[in-house]
Amino acid sequence: MTLPIRRTFLAAVAAAACAAAIPAFAARPLTIGFSQVGAESEWRTANTASIKEAAKQAGVNLKFADAQQQQQNQVKAIRSFIAQRVDVIAFSPVVETGWETVLREAKNAKIPVILTDRSVKVSDPSLYVSFIGSDFVEEGRRAGRWLMDYAKKNGDRPLNIVELQGTVGSAPATDRKTGFAEAIAANPKLKIIRSQTGDFTRAKGKEVMEAFLKSEGKKINVLFAHNDDMAIGAIQAIEEAGLKPGKDIVIVSIDGVRGAFEAMKQGKLNVTVECNPLLGPTLMQTAQNVVAGKPVPKRITVEEGVFPAEVAAKVFPTRKY
Ligand code: AHR
Repeated sequence: MTLPIRRTFLAAVAAAACAAAIPAFAARPLTIGFSQVGAESEWRTANTASIKEAAKQAGVNLKFADAQQQQQNQVKAIRSFIAQRVDVIAFSPVVETGWETVLREAKNAKIPVILTDRSVKVSDPSLYVSFIGSDFVEEGRRAGRWLMDYAKKNGDRPLNIVELQGTVGSAPATDRKTGFAEAIAANPKLKIIRSQTGDFTRAKGKEVMEAFLKSEGKKINVLFAHNDDMAIGAIQAIEEAGLKPGKDIVIVSIDGVRGAFEAMKQGKLNVTVECNPLLGPTLMQTAQNVVAGKPVPKRITVEEGVFPAEVAAKVFPTRKY
């Protein structure tokens, strides 16, 4: 007689303990520490907005830190997230190298790390759980293929190209350069005559384009900019030099932000290759899966297109960033 009662009592105690524990666990929101590159471009602004909005929608407690394009600020932010014992650390690395030590600190603290937008070069891939972002080499190839096609349709004459590179050591700068060079290699008439960093900003893009125009003048036929903001800065420099952007100098760029569509509608930019910044919802979902112990893909890529000036007016109203 006594045994079943005792069992019932024990079962009731256990159930009560579980009931008390479950709501307490369920009520605690997921905390993600996110270190952003900075606010260097229209693309980055859209990326930050996507992450903040998605966190709000998912009920995630987001600790956001802006690194102002400095790796040391990102390292500091990651260490502070470790000290605060966040559930997940996510970041978009300014540059590719130099992350081994701090990522190992996160791993030792058992805090999973998700990379967004840009990847890192590490000898141990277990230092991060997933990388969500574009294929930058392919973006460079797409830009190069568009130019190959343009050259073919426009008399197959020699074309001198100047290149505005992104931040030195960053994955998009390295990979877009590689992809573009690979795509144009088959046409020896396409020559890169100058290549310099504009750090992904409008101001720097303008400054470097001014220098290119000063030294190369009318020799320049094409500008390949690693992002739209540098292309927009360069457009200003070209106009101030008395030339017509999009006509005297063909401009190929990457991102697909609204500013690029505006420039294309005005005939000042010839094509933009899309790089999708709307990574917030995928990041939140991936973080939730990781914390729930579900398997997540090591690499998550995003769908992207190529938008030449001819389609700009039609596509513009559908753009989300
Ligand atoms: O990493 C993505 C790149 O960084 C975008 O192309 C650029 O606009 C940004 O600054």
